[in-house]
Amino acid sequence: MDTKSLDTQTPAALAAAADAAVAALENGDPVALPTETVYGLAADALRTDAVLKIFEAKERPFFDPLIVHLPDREWLDRVAAIPEESRALVEALIGRYWPGPLTLVLPRREIMPDLVTAGLETVAVRMSAHPVFSLVVRRLGKPLAAPSANRFGRISPTTAAHVRSELAGRIPLIVDGGPAEHGIESTIIAVEGERLRLLRAGPVTPRQIAETQTELRKVQGRREIAPGDTEFLARVEESLLLKPQAPGQLKSHYAPRTPLALVDDSARWTPERAGLRCGLLGMSPRKDADYARFDRVEWLSPSGDLREAAATLFARLRRLDEAGLDAIVAERIAEEGLGIAIMDRLRKASHPDPM
Ligand code: TXA
Ligand code: MG
Repeated sequence: MDTKSLDTQTPAALAAAADAAVAALENGDPVALPTETVYGLAADALRTDAVLKIFEAKERPFFDPLIVHLPDREWLDRVAAIPEESRALVEALIGRYWPGPLTLVLPRREIMPDLVTAGLETVAVRMSAHPVFSLVVRRLGKPLAAPSANRFGRISPTTAAHVRSELAGRIPLIVDGGPAEHGIESTIIAVEGERLRLLRAGPVTPRQIAETQTELRKVQGRREIAPGDTEFLARVEESLLLKPQAPGQLKSHYAPRTPLALVDDSARWTPERAGLRCGLLGMSPRKDADYARFDRVEWLSPSGDLREAAATLFARLRRLDEAGLDAIVAERIAEEGLGIAIMDRLRKASHPDPM
């Protein structure tokens, strides 16, 4: 199969790319589209035959459910059966973060094909803020199932070139919307009644989720929280972080082919054997440190900016993975704010699943 790439740099190019994407989607074909998190491989979520092609192109196992991207808010109640006790919390979360990098897992409705939800009683939904994605899904007028546009178990693509290196020959069309803004996948939260469970750390941090929950309780005049009670906020954040991960979250996700080791301080690290070609992935260089023993060095953000680090993480990892190294050494970063999601991805990259 020939894989076409279309850019979106001028209004005319964008219109032509959107036309081609909608035509392919209406034809039941999968299309790689930019989102604000990472590139997605999208197909009509209500058509099993179309969704099947996503699984084929990615070589994704059928037990791993897909995220459904909605054209607008009205679609939420058509795909999810929101329980009365969750309603206020759902409204508060989407009021603040939609469209954007937040995915909610909610009870599903019958309309969702089993293939999308992997037979689960829940469906994962989000609304992308990316202008290209949002144009295409609104023009189609139906939800799009879209996992990250990589082969199963590999690093998520943050540029159209990454998508091409993952899926060329397997899909008909890639729409190039430039590099992804956030660079890591959306935050996934399961809404269970009035409780929330963090299934995947992402651009929306546990602290921000806890703030939304706390504000809602204030508005509702709940008694368990006093005005200015920061302890409550900290407790909610902590409870989010303690919860176990989703069953669908495999350890092998985001794995580069090159073995990756997490270290506290790369300046003190030496390879096990002489002659090993090693690469370093770190936040920013330290003035006093010597990096000469590394064959290749990639910095996530020389100024130590977490947003920049998240946005560049997968591209840097991919570059190191393609450099023919024997090992990659990655420096741990502080697990606060966006650092939680970045460390989650580094940890997953460092533990290839034996399966
Ligand atoms: O940022 C993102 O979320 C990107 C862009 C393209 O939207 N998508 C993405 O999809 O990362 P994917 O398929 O690579 O990751 C989705 C994760 C999987 O780990 C899957 O197991 C989990 O969401 N998931 C999907 N539906 C679920 C459900 N009903 N319950 C629990 N986990 C679910
Ligand atoms: Mg993925």
